[in-house]
Amino acid sequence: MNEAIYRPGLEGIIAGETSISSIADGLRYRGYPIEQLAQYSTFEEVAYLVLHGELPTRAQLDFFTGQLRQAMELPQEIVSTLRDIPADVPMMDVMRTGASLLGHWDPQAQDISAQATLDKAVRLVARLPLVMCYRHRLRSGQEVVPPEPGRSVAWNILWMLRGQEPQPDHVRALDVTLILYVEHEFNASTFTARVVASTLSDLHSAVTAAIGALKGPLHGGANERVMDYLSKLSSAEEAETWVKQALERKERIMGFGHRVYRTGDPRAAILAPYCEQLARQTGNEAMEAVAGRIEQVVREQKNIPPNVDYPAGRLYYYLGLPVDLYTPLFVISRTVGWSAHVLEQQAANRLIRPRARYVGAEPRDYVPVEQRG
Ligand code: SDX
Repeated sequence: MNEAIYRPGLEGIIAGETSISSIADGLRYRGYPIEQLAQYSTFEEVAYLVLHGELPTRAQLDFFTGQLRQAMELPQEIVSTLRDIPADVPMMDVMRTGASLLGHWDPQAQDISAQATLDKAVRLVARLPLVMCYRHRLRSGQEVVPPEPGRSVAWNILWMLRGQEPQPDHVRALDVTLILYVEHEFNASTFTARVVASTLSDLHSAVTAAIGALKGPLHGGANERVMDYLSKLSSAEEAETWVKQALERKERIMGFGHRVYRTGDPRAAILAPYCEQLARQTGNEAMEAVAGRIEQVVREQKNIPPNVDYPAGRLYYYLGLPVDLYTPLFVISRTVGWSAHVLEQQAANRLIRPRARYVGAEPRDYVPVEQRG
């Protein structure tokens, strides 16, 4: 065996092979650049591509979309649980519970065959939006709004949250974020899913674990943390002062930096014009100016560009979405990527079990408690 390599956080370590996405020269899903997918495709079509490896024919897309839309329902027992969970439970915890609960009512829950995993992935992608939207309505004292079967996931998310016909440009902006959040190689939550899959556990266990990982503010939770500071800054000048002081305190500015992208996250560039357009449409130009100044200062002071969460958080805010739904939206989309990685891991599996470098106590013998002082 080669000399063992150790890098804190596994930084730069190749921990496996994948054919699902590449981030070496920009981000590609199954070889297709996300710039083209964001411009020409839809979340449903990209979900098919990532899960199956090829863009669908018209017949395949219609069948897949039909499967998704038929699965957009929740057992009453789960709706009741979503009503009963205490009001102050964070929405990401509810998503984690929801993914696990969905396994209890999935007839194929224990079947880890590729076809069963694919079927379960479709049901999870179809049902997690209802977990989020139903929970939000119930915690707001409102009745749930069931999905419209003939509509897209993005359209239905806005519909189920508000019970009003969503604006087409809002639907498209949301759909583009769902496309961009689908997949990103061996990020922390995806690697979590692969570790669980490598033990030959099931998809619901892998997705539940991945949601736990994505909740962290160093990972998916950043799109909500962005709004913590953006919503408190009322001018570019105030923002400049705040961010310079934060950087002096060695604080991490949420929405900036990336373990892999050191010169810029291509997803952030794609979402920027959607932010600008929505900000103008919703009277949020001041927030865009604040965001622009913060980006300018972080680049000048630390040479660190924004990642996908910096524009995504603002875009969701301009859509009028509650802040604690932002990372759940990331969950809904990334469930596609997690599922594809579970399928890939189990298709050519090797238990993921790295070693650790021991840095603890020297070897020593047991001392009876009477002699321990
Ligand atoms: C996602 O991996 C993926 O692909 C994830 C993701 C996906 O699609 O799955 O892309 C989604 O998680 C995006 C990242 C969202 N997280 C945040 O926005 C949180 C803020 N960002 C940082 O915590 C940080 O940039 C990380 C965690 C994302 C990456 O950090 P690294 O690679 O561990 O880098 P580091 O912490 O070792 O920092 C290196 C230097 C340090 O400076 P020095 O101490 O050497 O002087 O860069 C600085 C850091 O202080 N730095 C930052 C910073 N990020 C790094 N300084 C200020 N603000 C930041 N955000």
